[in-house]
Amino acid sequence: MPGASLEGMYTTLAVKGYRSLRDVVCRLGRVTVVTGGNGSGKSNLHKALRLLAACGQGRVASSLALEGGLSSVLWAGPESLRGARRTGRVEGTVRSAPISLQIGVGGQGLGYLIDLGIPQQSAHTCFNRDPEIKREAVWLGPVLRPSALMARRRRGTLEVRDGQWRPAGTLATHASLLGSRAVPELRDLAEELAAWRFYDALRVDRDAPARRPQVGTRTWSLADDGADLAAAWRTIEEHGGSPLQTLLDDALPGSRVHVEEQGGVFRLLLEQPGMLRPLETAELSDGTLRYLMLLAALHAPDAPPLLALNEPEGSLHEQLIEPLARLILDASRRTQIVVVTHSPQLAALLAADDEVEHLHLVKDLGETTIEGQGLLARPAWEWGSR
Ligand SMILES: Nc1ncnc2c1ncn2[C@@H]1O[C@H](COP(=O)(O)OP(=O)(O)OP(=O)(O)O)[C@@H](O)[C@H]1O
Ligand SMILES: [Mg+2]
Repeated sequence: MPGASLEGMYTTLAVKGYRSLRDVVCRLGRVTVVTGGNGSGKSNLHKALRLLAACGQGRVASSLALEGGLSSVLWAGPESLRGARRTGRVEGTVRSAPISLQIGVGGQGLGYLIDLGIPQQSAHTCFNRDPEIKREAVWLGPVLRPSALMARRRRGTLEVRDGQWRPAGTLATHASLLGSRAVPELRDLAEELAAWRFYDALRVDRDAPARRPQVGTRTWSLADDGADLAAAWRTIEEHGGSPLQTLLDDALPGSRVHVEEQGGVFRLLLEQPGMLRPLETAELSDGTLRYLMLLAALHAPDAPPLLALNEPEGSLHEQLIEPLARLILDASRRTQIVVVTHSPQLAALLAADDEVEHLHLVKDLGETTIEGQGLLARPAWEWGSR
């Protein structure tokens, strides 16, 4: 595939203690394809990325609350599975480390990790279940090294390094250092994480938001439920410079999209060969509508730094899988992409590319592991300690 790797690409994702991801460190490529059986942890990986984005948006505590709270998302197995691997029996053991959920990402630009835990219980508050940010770190490069650290937070204390470490204020237990106004680099990183896009609920059912006309404004990236498809499509046509018509022809030969606006309400119409009139989104087949949404998501004029798709192949006929693979590989020149898929065809087409990482997940005693990743193949990662 032409083109060097993306500038500032993330190369490593690490998750510890989150759902079935007891301790995973994986390499990220320009495209990362994630496959595996039902329940192997693919969506958990997608959700872990979404939590990182929530850190950038200052919403990590509320995002965890929406998932049922920290206690529900913490790894539910024993601290170590070493004994269970020997005996084949999983038994609770006395914990040696504090309860903690850690997620981090590193690469060619800034790296970031967050370590969440349970607060000291107090009779004076009703919020004893809120997660507490115990630790955060920001560094330059793929792995946290003391010499590359730029900012760190331990409980409420923020310190930054410009030559020497200096205190940079205090933070509330739920507030990420990324929200700190003290350091411009942290704000840039927050914006970058907040701009990651996630598509795992591109609904195409009869009542799907994308099937209804909508009041539209310029839309720089498609909403995660695809509701603003018509406005997003038109924005790409007017501002994006992407050859949407050619890309559409690649998948649905001879079809043409028109976006109409009346009184501020946008509707998307699809002209297809053999039809006497264009069809409204309400009338399109599930696969056709989904493909249009994927096209709009992958060609957003504001290319996000990272875009994650969870099972984009849903309701697509085999014929559309090849164009979809081309679409993803083409978009990966602008955006780093993580694709979770159950389609062997899509996985194989993507994985044929040199710059694509393929992670095949398996569940072993309830724990997600990456097939073929022995200790030696595990990318370097450093969590540091509380
Ligand atoms: N707190 C937890 N601790 C340990 N394991 C958990 C926890 N919460 C969920 N799981 C496990 O995670 C699994 C679900 O993982 P996930 O949703 O990522 O699967 P998936 O690979 O996306 O599967 P599918 O292909 O069916 O969508 C469940 O089978 C469950 O065993
Ligand atoms: Mg899933």
